[in-house]
Amino acid sequence: MSEKIYIFDTTLRDGEQVPGCKLNTSEKIELALALEDLGVDIIEAGFPISSPGDFHSVQEISKIIQHASVCGLSRAVKKDIEVAAEALKYAKKPRIHTGIGTSDYHIKGKFNSTREEILERAVQCVQWAKNFVDDVEFYAEDAGRTDNEYLARVVEAVIKAGATVINIPDTTGYCLPSQYGAKIAFLKNNVPNIDKAILSCHCHNDLGLATANSIEGIIHGARQIECTMNGLGERAGNTSLEEVVMIIQQHKHLGFHTNIKTTQLNPMSRLVSDTMRMPVQPNKAIVGANAFSHSSGIHQDGFLKSAITYEIINPKDVGADTSKIVLTARSGRSALAYRLKNLGYECTRNDIDTLYERFLQIADQKKEVCDDDLHAMAKQHQRIE
Ligand code: KIV
Ligand code: ZN
Repeated sequence: MSEKIYIFDTTLRDGEQVPGCKLNTSEKIELALALEDLGVDIIEAGFPISSPGDFHSVQEISKIIQHASVCGLSRAVKKDIEVAAEALKYAKKPRIHTGIGTSDYHIKGKFNSTREEILERAVQCVQWAKNFVDDVEFYAEDAGRTDNEYLARVVEAVIKAGATVINIPDTTGYCLPSQYGAKIAFLKNNVPNIDKAILSCHCHNDLGLATANSIEGIIHGARQIECTMNGLGERAGNTSLEEVVMIIQQHKHLGFHTNIKTTQLNPMSRLVSDTMRMPVQPNKAIVGANAFSHSSGIHQDGFLKSAITYEIINPKDVGADTSKIVLTARSGRSALAYRLKNLGYECTRNDIDTLYERFLQIADQKKEVCDDDLHAMAKQHQRIE
């Protein structure tokens, strides 16, 4: 039996923390509606206490979203929680996401406090949030660098206080996949009431491991992944929604599924990129401009014989344009013949041999040989023949 992985999208909160990605309320509403349509289970709409604008956005999103849970972030501070509850009051399924740093870096460096005091504050914030909503998610900030025994005590206590979801953030993107997976397994095996809550992964990408860590997290017992479109988020970003969803889909043997409509991944990526004015790197997995482009002769020849040789995903399945055969100085004759045929030129083997010489001369002068170059080459060839 395949188990559901809940997709918690935080593009509008952690993603919006990227410098230059600030959104106004109507932009946030447009993205929230598209995220709901994409099939995400939870939309983290913002951090209501952080500004009147964010409060307003969370409130408006709460009114409009029909099926997904709408979540508001807060610190372990009574006023934050009250403001989050107020912003969420129209939501059909409201969730308050509250928490506190649990690593010694946070306990000493940020709060100048003790483990016992922080544990007490963790319990109090969950209890306070429970006065307003049933669905309370607790985050143990910097759980990635938190001592496992202490983390287990905090998790047990906040579940007793009523937390329904426990977020184990690798806030600094420090963990190796094996360490993050072992942390989730430790909590599963050592917290007596762990099955009363859902464990959640929230992994940052400082070492490029966010996606791998989230997948290790679900393999070891987490059932929610917090992620963003295009991997946007603080510093080097957050786990990419499109990556974890497609890993789960490609590796069905893991026994998981999500609700995401994968054919909407590329349109959603473009919408987020345009709205947040943040370009997607061309080599980005699943949604980058080159994700389905083939440029070297060996790859092009193999791909043209059978797409599966060099493509594990059909671009249609993720709403991308068709695969591209890009012509560069590394391309071979089969790619040239394919592109010429697509432009309407039927060429014999001899034609291709002659045209290929000319093609290489052009390709050595340019990064990419385009359709106009091919037309000019083919027409000149036709005149000579
Ligand atoms: O990275 C983090 O720890 C966070 C929390 C606020 C959930 O974003
Ligand atoms: Zn984060």
